[in-house]
Amino acid sequence: MPNKLPGICFVGCGKIASLHAKNIRKLFKTIDLFFFDTDGKKSAELRSKFAGKKTFSQIEYALDSPDVDIVFITTPHAFHAEIAVAAARAGKDIILEKPIARNMREVKKIQDAVKKYRVRCTVAENYLYKAFVSGIKDSIQKGLIGKPMFLEVNKYNRDEIKGWRSDPELMGGGALLEGGVHWVNLLVTLADSKPVTAIAYKPEVEYNTNIPFEDSLTVMIKFENGSVGKLFHSWYIKNRYKGIGLSKIFGTDGVITFESNGIFTSVYGRKKKKFLGKFSDFLGYKSMIRSFIADYMDNRPWTPSLEQIVTEFKTVEAAYRSLKSGIPESID
Ligand SMILES: NC(=O)c1ccc[n+]([C@@H]2O[C@H](COP(=O)([O-])OP(=O)(O)OC[C@H]3O[C@@H](n4cnc5c(N)ncnc54)[C@H](O)[C@@H]3O)[C@@H](O)[C@H]2O)c1
Repeated sequence: MPNKLPGICFVGCGKIASLHAKNIRKLFKTIDLFFFDTDGKKSAELRSKFAGKKTFSQIEYALDSPDVDIVFITTPHAFHAEIAVAAARAGKDIILEKPIARNMREVKKIQDAVKKYRVRCTVAENYLYKAFVSGIKDSIQKGLIGKPMFLEVNKYNRDEIKGWRSDPELMGGGALLEGGVHWVNLLVTLADSKPVTAIAYKPEVEYNTNIPFEDSLTVMIKFENGSVGKLFHSWYIKNRYKGIGLSKIFGTDGVITFESNGIFTSVYGRKKKKFLGKFSDFLGYKSMIRSFIADYMDNRPWTPSLEQIVTEFKTVEAAYRSLKSGIPESID
């Protein structure tokens, strides 16, 4: 028996909640949306913009409400663990924004609560749902470039970091932890293998930055299938083309070159192929929402699994540990 459409309550009504609520409303006209924010003006604003059913004045009222099936946590990640544990205790299914939390201690609390109260939990990792990702995976699976040997992902742009993103306490890490998790997800998804070790390098060059924590790293990752990944991630390096960059997958029989965000992809190997990103859903948000709702209604597990997200988070932690140890750190 399929489930009914879930009632969804956003906890945290800022920029990303607004985007998800907009997409949900576009895709599912009759879904009940609820809103809670510590700033009542923000929840009221989203309710009126997206035909919400109700705002709550306290999170407890949202967690007690029988009309709320899914708690969609869209606060800064410093608050994710506390809210997710309370939601699990109340028997609510949980979707968290990325990054899942600030550190593995908080991640473990989420994992334990999800297990104990037997609720569903996933992270809204939209990169997994970008159309070009499945296009590349399909080309690799068809053997067009033979076996992937090296995967190289490049993402850099001098970003303006402000608000809670400039607070080291709320961040719990640096650029790799907050923004880089998307790119770790992309690398791991394209490698289609478990990351085993990670080592990060930071240039020993003095420079003036107003970002009060790590803003640029190169991370090398070894995968279980023998392939090697490299992620260059920076919120500091200037980019004339606003974050546009080139990434590559080098295989035994060919090379895939793609614009890092998915604007275009070129496959050169046993066959030649070119494709463009899907511009009607370039960031994958709509496909992700569609998949979460369909899987919820048909009682299928959500994608990504919590395990996959935890592995990727451990990859980030291993990279940070390696900055201190100077050696590749194990991811587990
Ligand atoms: N997937 C993506 O592409 C993407 C893009 C942007 C942000 N994000 C992630 O989404 C999350 C939120 O980012 P944002 O840009 O929307 O931030 P934001 O600052 O625009 O919004 C955060 C909102 O949370 C509210 N809030 C803070 N603490 C709260 C609490 N304890 N309970 C309830 N509400 C609380 C704030 O009042 C604010 O309205 C972060 O984890 C961020 O990394 C993801």
